[in-house]
Amino acid sequence: MKNENGLKLVDKDEDGVDRAFREDVLAGLRQRQKAIPARWLYDDAGSQLFEDITDLEEYYPTRAETEILEARGEEFAELIGADRAVVEFGSGSSVKTPLLLRAIDPAAYVPLDISGDFLRASASALAKKFPDIEVHPVEADFMREVRLPDEVSSLKKLGFFPGSTIGNMVPRTAVDLLRSMRVTLGAENGETPLLLIGMDLVKDRQVLEAAYDDARGVTAEFNRNLARRINRELGGDIPVDDLRHQARWNDEFARIEMHLEAIRDIAFTVAGCGFSMQQGETIHTENSHKFTRRSANTLLSAGGWTPRARWTDSEDRFSLILAEATEKRDAP
Ligand code: AVI
Repeated sequence: MKNENGLKLVDKDEDGVDRAFREDVLAGLRQRQKAIPARWLYDDAGSQLFEDITDLEEYYPTRAETEILEARGEEFAELIGADRAVVEFGSGSSVKTPLLLRAIDPAAYVPLDISGDFLRASASALAKKFPDIEVHPVEADFMREVRLPDEVSSLKKLGFFPGSTIGNMVPRTAVDLLRSMRVTLGAENGETPLLLIGMDLVKDRQVLEAAYDDARGVTAEFNRNLARRINRELGGDIPVDDLRHQARWNDEFARIEMHLEAIRDIAFTVAGCGFSMQQGETIHTENSHKFTRRSANTLLSAGGWTPRARWTDSEDRFSLILAEATEKRDAP
């Protein structure tokens, strides 16, 4: 079953198992380097654990980005202007979105999210807080082009993609997303939309590794919850206590990688299929790419966006970039 945006509402088999989840897990566990797409980290328990992560002392990105949003409202207002439709890719967090809406005074707010329940809850909370802004939630997979509601067709658009979620994608996927954002926001229909995007910065390895391996072990639980979810939903018997959380800096690709490492040789089944891991072998569960000013500009340009302004927090840990959907072709 699909909605009007072509969104396949979760496809479950006769046992209530999410088919895409099972396919991704089985295919991922059969690879030489076992790897499961990071999107499966976010069931209800995982989403709650991620919320807990954003409050951790070691996890600076949320605080740093919020600091920029709080401090730079006047500059956003000047560069972006009022009366736009703000299109947020992924439902807004309770803190960040109101800061932007208050600063730029848009005419409409269009949150896009794949999770309908979460989307409706956050949209109605925002509608109450901002009675003068029209709120039009759209249940859609924002990784693809999305048809925006007719009510906002005549408005100029500002895409909002905070949190450095772009960093959870490998560059090829990130470029595909940036290009589909252009289409969603009307760049192919003669409009010149803007995009305000959060991109976390390369920094000291210790600071990064601590942010993804906190002293209280919340991130470890977030990571191990994936194995628990597999056991719960796919009838698995992965010995979760034999998997150790690892956060490693991969300098070649400028990214933090999360892995689940077997602390001894183990064997287990998932959905009736047998697997084994030798001591030290890992399942790769997430990438979180970090950017320099240049690598951020390069990625945005590859995605068809020209950076127009850039802000960082007071400790230069995180950047917010305002980009315009113009293809900048400097080369002859
Ligand atoms: C959602 N995303 C931007 C987070 C990040 O920092 O990459 C996910 C996360 N993983 C572990 N801690 C936070």
